[in-house]
Amino acid sequence: MARLLVTGGAGFLGVNFVRHVLASTDHRIAVLDKLTYAGNRASLEGLPESRVTFVEGDIADALLVDALVGDADAVVHFAAETHNDHALAEPAPFVRTNLVGTFTLLEAVRAHGVRFHQVSTDEVYGDLALESSDRFHEGDAFSPSSPYSATKAGADLLVHAWVRSYGVHATVSHCSNSYGPYQHVEKFIPRQITQVLRGDRPRLYGSGEQVRDWIHAEDHSSAVLAILERGTPGETYLIGADGERSNLEVVRLILELMGQPQDAFDRVADRPGHDARYAIDSTKLRAELGWEPVHRDFEAGLAATIAWYRENEDWWAPAKNATEAFYAARGQ
Ligand code: NAD
Ligand code: DAU
Repeated sequence: MARLLVTGGAGFLGVNFVRHVLASTDHRIAVLDKLTYAGNRASLEGLPESRVTFVEGDIADALLVDALVGDADAVVHFAAETHNDHALAEPAPFVRTNLVGTFTLLEAVRAHGVRFHQVSTDEVYGDLALESSDRFHEGDAFSPSSPYSATKAGADLLVHAWVRSYGVHATVSHCSNSYGPYQHVEKFIPRQITQVLRGDRPRLYGSGEQVRDWIHAEDHSSAVLAILERGTPGETYLIGADGERSNLEVVRLILELMGQPQDAFDRVADRPGHDARYAIDSTKLRAELGWEPVHRDFEAGLAATIAWYRENEDWWAPAKNATEAFYAARGQ
């Protein structure tokens, strides 16, 4: 039995990972989360207190982090500022949390000799041309386009330097866009679902031709656990499930699944510097670690996600008005 420290465990991918670990191992988990606007304590309700403890705090708090890392066998690092539209409006928290926070964790795992996994994004590789069939690979050069992805790339470079210079036992994963339960309503899929649920129209940025490579959160969780258990320290793994769809296709599918006309959406202001396309080649993860996604049917996964938001309005409704006020001020 291992003791995991999961940072950002009250956020979307963090809580999905905590639930997956509880269901598939006998590990104990300490969650460290600052409960920013994106963290939700309610996501962890009902989990067994004998196996999960919650600590409200900042990953940039060196004393707190050192104490928690000293009690752990491994750290799985999800905590981050994650939303591109927020990064464009106010990048400072992204620099502090994503760069200084990751540095603080790395210093603690170095001091205590603790295994570390860095959860990162495919956005560090920049974007791909819409008309190409290229995909991202582990050896690609970093070329981030946005304030968010630049801070994630910087954090990943710190991890690689701590591996090489100090022998820290760390792995890094880069994943494409995830969807599923417990995702904040600011993100694309939950925003559109909750628009329809409250009688409003989905909002599509610009042309809607941009492509994202969708993977269910549960598949992300199983991939991270596989890397933690069987990955090689120092290595990088790309996580993806061959789920490329344009934003327009996704909006139309949500409308169809929710019984709305195909044209019942609004086109709004585009995102500055909007990345065109992301696509993951996850051959290394599949071949070396034997990982495979379970949710291969995007339409079925989306229908289940719609059902989750329909049944959990108490979870998302408190954040919806503030989220829409933020977008309205940006013409989105
Ligand atoms: P999220 O925004 O839903 O959750 C982030 C969590 O981190 C929140 O609970 C928040 O309170 C916490 N947090 C923020 N700053 C903190 C700080 N200084 N100290 C402690 N906790 C803090 O994010 P998510 O979508 O779950 O993403 C989790 C990780 O996965 C991030 O590192 C992100 O870059 C990466 N990622 C996400 C996706 C995706 O599609 N969601 C894809 C690839 C990679
Ligand atoms: O690729 C992985 C990344 O995926 C993660 O690292 C990020 O943390 C996560 O937020 C996500 O980034 P994106 O910027 O791709 O996700 P977002 O949900 O913000 O937007 C997805 C696409 O949908 C993008 O092309 C912008 C578009 N969009 C978004 C919103 C919120 C719309 O057209 N309308 C919207 O209302």
